[in-house]
Amino acid sequence: MARGLRSRLTKYGDEEFALFLRRGFLKAAGYSDEALDRPVVGILSTASDFNPCHGNAPQLADRIARGVRLAGGLPFAFPTISLHEAFSFPTSMLLRNLMAMDAEEMISALPLDAVVLIGGCDKTIPAELMGAISADMPAILLSVGPMLAGRHEGGRLGACTDCRRLWAAYRAGALSETDLDRAHDHLMPSAGTCMVMGTALTMACLAETLGFMLPGAATAPSVSAERMRLAEATGARAVAMARAGGPRPRDILTPAALRNASVVLQATSGSTNALIHLAAIAGRAGLTFDLAEFDRVGRDTPVLVDLKPAGAHFAEDFHAAGGVPALWRRLKDQLDLSATSVSGETLGQIVDFWPAYVDDKVIRPRERPVVEGEAIAILSGSLAPYGAALKLAAATRELTTHQGPALVFDSLDDLSARIDDPALPVTPEHVLVLRNAGPIGAPGMPEAGALPIPKKLGSRGVKDMVRISDARMSGTAFGTVVLHVAPEAAAGGPLALVQDGDVIRLDAAARRLDLLVDEAELSHRRARWSPPQKPARGYTRLYVDHVTQAGLGCDFDFLAGTRDAAE
Ligand code: FES
Repeated sequence: MARGLRSRLTKYGDEEFALFLRRGFLKAAGYSDEALDRPVVGILSTASDFNPCHGNAPQLADRIARGVRLAGGLPFAFPTISLHEAFSFPTSMLLRNLMAMDAEEMISALPLDAVVLIGGCDKTIPAELMGAISADMPAILLSVGPMLAGRHEGGRLGACTDCRRLWAAYRAGALSETDLDRAHDHLMPSAGTCMVMGTALTMACLAETLGFMLPGAATAPSVSAERMRLAEATGARAVAMARAGGPRPRDILTPAALRNASVVLQATSGSTNALIHLAAIAGRAGLTFDLAEFDRVGRDTPVLVDLKPAGAHFAEDFHAAGGVPALWRRLKDQLDLSATSVSGETLGQIVDFWPAYVDDKVIRPRERPVVEGEAIAILSGSLAPYGAALKLAAATRELTTHQGPALVFDSLDDLSARIDDPALPVTPEHVLVLRNAGPIGAPGMPEAGALPIPKKLGSRGVKDMVRISDARMSGTAFGTVVLHVAPEAAAGGPLALVQDGDVIRLDAAARRLDLLVDEAELSHRRARWSPPQKPARGYTRLYVDHVTQAGLGCDFDFLAGTRDAAE
């Protein structure tokens, strides 16, 4: 099989000419013949002025390239789409599949022997893994790393859990605009991803657990020298993978690795968004991420990582406490330690050599978990026949068993138009329902599931209510928030049929979410329902025509499975 620059020659009907031309252009870039015979390692760079979380990506790419050269390889950096949560209208989730397609197609088109993926901000690691698994090129991931915690007036602040807390206090009139502005300067104090257990850090920890990163690479702070050394080591490891032709992503992503990810997701009280990303990642390898098994795993897995929003600490504390391998050691009875990593070792071998030190305050012993019970529950019932998710660790325990009248918002526009209306007929016992905010309905399933508490209740001290939607929620958010209701309203799910005043019952212990309306009445309503109009053109039209529901990862139906199986 052709390797390096001899691989994937442009189709001119004359391969020797194609190689002659390719090498000629690289000579024009100053490369010698000797350099061009080395193994080629691509560095997929997600640097973008619109992605401040990836502000250190150019520096990391430089250190990765140094590692590649030191190991005898030839590095080539190339760009892809870069997604930042605050710069992706209408929502980064709409664009995750586009980034995955970009990554897959560029990895498959370029003459690479291995690729290093630089990711971090929420959707980037999932998109890169989805693309790399489909391309099945030897691939190793390096996250940009978490930001340092912010320091403000004697305390520490974390993006974006404290962004939400401060904003809610400001909305409720408990914090002045001046105080809000002063804190604002310290919420995001450096480049890197959010430093609480939000989606970015969750996905980094899961990527390390799945075996796609070197040990310790999920948690080393973005601005640390350690991350730069990890970048160099990642580059060197990529050259070894290029020479060996593996491991390939489908060697790494096994059912055992996915089950390990379930354990770590529960033990970190990670983001519910990871459920969707893991399903999409599994689907690319022809595997299924089993939500029922995930729920069962949760019942046996204590929340051990004491990070915001469920706990008190920050990513830098998790790293200093021992990081992900120290957590694996705490969970070793539940993990399959024979699963392998791109480092060439099994998880068990990594645990064996990893330093014995662990800070019990941050990575708790099993008998002293961060919260009582499991982190995330999977619900089903007449309101969610295909399932829904509830982050118990972020919920108000008393509200996880609740029955109340529905107050329905038909769309995100309806929500923002009415939620703070002083005349809104709402009580703390109401169940707030948001629909048409799912993968098809929004489209793109925005992080709108943690509906704001109506101002008229917030100003009276109400901090939490049961909220239900077909949307997602940021991993940094909190509240009794039922998410990912499937089928979504825009696909004709029962959520589309709920009316104001209908009684909804949530029973998290029984894993039930039910609409207490009789079937005859629902049939009557169903007969009058019609699907929303589709976008007329472009990527958004492709998206709504092909996106799957949350349980299948919101991937495109034509992208599931592997590239060579499909071609
Ligand atoms: Fe980029 Fe939080 S916004 S990781």
